[in-house]
Amino acid sequence: AIDISKLRDQTGYITIDNGYKNTGATKSAITFLDGEKGILHYRGYSIEDLAEKATFLEVAYLLIYGELPTAQQYADFEYEIRTHTLVNEDMRKIFEGFPVNAHPMGVLSSLVSAMSAFYPDSFDSTAPEDTELHIIRLLAKLPTIATWSFKKSQGHPVNYPNNNLDYCSNFLNMMFALPVENYEVDPVVSQALNKLLILHADHEQNCSTSTVRLVGSSQANIYSSISAGISALWGPLHGGANQEVIEMLEAIRADGGDTQKYIDMAKDKSSGFRLFGFGHRVYKNFDPRARIIKKAADDVLTKLGVNDPVLDIARQLEEAALKDEYFVSRKLYPNVDFYSGIIYRALGIPTNMFTVMFAIGRLPGWIAQWKEMRANKEPIGRPRQIYTGATLREFVALENR
Ligand code: ACO
Repeated sequence: AIDISKLRDQTGYITIDNGYKNTGATKSAITFLDGEKGILHYRGYSIEDLAEKATFLEVAYLLIYGELPTAQQYADFEYEIRTHTLVNEDMRKIFEGFPVNAHPMGVLSSLVSAMSAFYPDSFDSTAPEDTELHIIRLLAKLPTIATWSFKKSQGHPVNYPNNNLDYCSNFLNMMFALPVENYEVDPVVSQALNKLLILHADHEQNCSTSTVRLVGSSQANIYSSISAGISALWGPLHGGANQEVIEMLEAIRADGGDTQKYIDMAKDKSSGFRLFGFGHRVYKNFDPRARIIKKAADDVLTKLGVNDPVLDIARQLEEAALKDEYFVSRKLYPNVDFYSGIIYRALGIPTNMFTVMFAIGRLPGWIAQWKEMRANKEPIGRPRQIYTGATLREFVALENR
C-alpha cells in the first residue's frame, strides 16, 4: 500500500486534483453531509431538527464545543457574548476611513483582520484553550461591525449594541433602529433570521472553511484566519452567489420576466452566464438547506404580508430548470443561496449585505473547524504542483533583450 501523503517520496508521482474534487484535506467530526441523499448533520443532529428547534447560539455552541449546551452552559455562553458586543472605538476610526460605497464584505474582512492588531495576545493563542476569549469576541462583535456598513450607506449614525436583546434581535436593532422613532423587533423577522443563520452555520470543507483551515495551519492567529475565510466567501461562486441571485432575478424581471431566455443563456457555454443559486459541488440530488429555505421564504413573506415579484420569477426558473435535460443530466438543483436572498429582502436587508449575513451565519463553523485543525495538530497545508513552465534558460542582459 502507498501512503498518499508520502506518494512523492515513495514513487516520484504527484496527484493532480484541480479544485480538490476528490481529495480529502482532513478528517473532521463536525459536519456530516451526504450529497447523493441530500443529508446534512451538525455533530450528528439533522439540519431539519436544528433549523426548527434550536437557536443560532445553541448551534454555535454545538459546532464549537461538540455537544448541545446544558441550560447553564447556554446561559453562560450567551452572557459572555452579550457582554463583548461593543467594538473598540479606535476600530470605528478605521471604519470611518472607508468610502461610503465600500462593499460591506471588504469592510468586514478588513476589520476582522484589524482585530488581530487590537488583540495581539491572539498571536500566542496556538492552543485551542487559549482562544476562548477570541472566539467569544468574534461571535459578539461580528454583527456589530456588520451593521456599521449598512448604517453608513444610509447616512445614519451607528447603533450601539443593546445587551438586553438576544443575538438576532440585537443585530436587527443595530441595523434598523433610528434615533427618532421606537423600533421593536418583529419576532417573525428575528425567527426567520435565526433559521437562516443556522442553515449557513457549517458545511464541512467548502472553499471558505478550507481557507480558514489552510491559513490557520501556518499558525496564523484566529482573526487573520477568519478574515481570509470572509474574503473567500465573498466570491460569486461561493457565498457571493446570494447577492448574484437577486441581481439575476431582478435583471430577468426588468427584461420582461422571460425565464426561458435565461435558462437558454445558462446552457450556452459561450454566453459566460451561469444560473446563480444552481448547482453544488457535493449535492447532486437536492440541497436540504434549499428545501427548508424555500418553505421559509413562503412562510415569511406570507406572515409579513410581502408580495415580492422576484419570488414568482425564482419559482418559474426552478420549475423550468428542473424539467430541462441540461440541468437534470448535470444534477443542477437550487442551492442554499437560491431562496435566501428573497427572505433577506423581505426582512429589509439590502442586497449588498447578503453575503455578510452568510458570514455571520458561517462564523461558528469557521471557528469550530479552526479549533479542530489546531487541536488535531494538523501540519501546515502545502499543496504540490506539476510545473508546466519553461525549462532552464540563459539569462540575457537587459540591453540585449
Ligand atoms: N448554470 C449553468 N451551468 C452550470 C451551473 C449553473 N449554475 N453550475 C454548473 N454548471 C455546469 C457546468 O458548466 C458543467 O457543465 P459541463 O459538464 O458541460 O462542463 C457542469 O454543470 C458541472 O459544473 P462544474 O462547474 O464543473 O461544477 P463544480 O462542482 O466545479 O461547481 C458550483 C459548483 C461552483 C456551485 C457551480 O455549480 C456554480 O458555478 N453555480 C453557480 C454559483 C452558485 O450558485 N454558487 C453557490 C454555491 S453554494 C455555496 O457556496 C454556498
